[in-house]
Amino acid sequence: MKIDVLTIFPDMVKPILGQSIVGRAVHEKKLEINVIDFRDHSPNKHKKVDDTPYGGGAGMVLRVEPVVNALRAIDGHEHAHKIIMTPQGKPYAQADASRLSTHDHLIVLCGHYEGFDERIRAHFDEEISIGDYVLTGGEVAALVLVESTVRLIPGILNKDASHQDDSFSHGLLEYPHYTRPREFEGERVPEVLLSGNHQAIETWRKAEAVKRTKARRPDLFETYEKAQKKRGK
Ligand code: ADE
Repeated sequence: MKIDVLTIFPDMVKPILGQSIVGRAVHEKKLEINVIDFRDHSPNKHKKVDDTPYGGGAGMVLRVEPVVNALRAIDGHEHAHKIIMTPQGKPYAQADASRLSTHDHLIVLCGHYEGFDERIRAHFDEEISIGDYVLTGGEVAALVLVESTVRLIPGILNKDASHQDDSFSHGLLEYPHYTRPREFEGERVPEVLLSGNHQAIETWRKAEAVKRTKARRPDLFETYEKAQKKRGK
C-alpha cells in the first residue's frame, strides 16, 4: 500500500510514522508513506496556504490551490482513494479501518484553520472524523487512520491472526488477557486459562467478551445482540 499524507506540519506526522509497526512496515518496504507539505504547492510567492473568509468572520480558511496542486502532483492520484480528515466527516470505526486497508493507494488531507474552502471537497472521495471533538488540525486524526488501517494489511502484524480477536472486530470488546506470574499479590490467573483445554478457553473468552461489552459499551452490545438474533443465534 502507498499512503500520501498532505499536511502543513510534516514534523507532526513524520516521526510517529517512523516508529513501531508502521515504521517497521515502511522499513521492510511493505508500505510506502510520503508526507507532503502542501505549502510547497502554494502559487503565492510567500507560500501562503490560508486566507480570510469571504463574507467575513473569525479565523482563516485553507485555500483550494495549494491542496489541489499538491494532489495533482502525486503519482497515481487519479486512482487513489482520497480522504479529508475533518470533524464534519463520517465517524471513524474499526469497519472503516478494515475497508480502507484493502485500497492500494490512500491520500489523506489534514485540514487546518477554521475550515477549508468548500471547493476542496469535490476533489476527495470521503471525509472522516475520529470523534466529536475539535483538534487543532487533522494531523493526529490522520495518524489514527494510518495506524488503525496499516495494521490490518495482511503480513504487517507479526502473526496474521493477531487482529482477528481485536476489540470491535466481531462487534465486541476483547476478552481479558493474562501472562506470568500465575499469582500477583493474591490475584490469580483464572484457572481455565491454565487448563490447556482449548474449547473451554474459547468458551470462557467469548463469555468474558460479552460480559465486558455489556458492562462497558451497552450501545455496542445492543447492536451485537440484534445481529446475533438476525443470524438466528
Ligand atoms: N480535525 C480536527 N478535528 C478533527 C476530528 N475530530 N476528526 C478528524 N479531523 C479533525
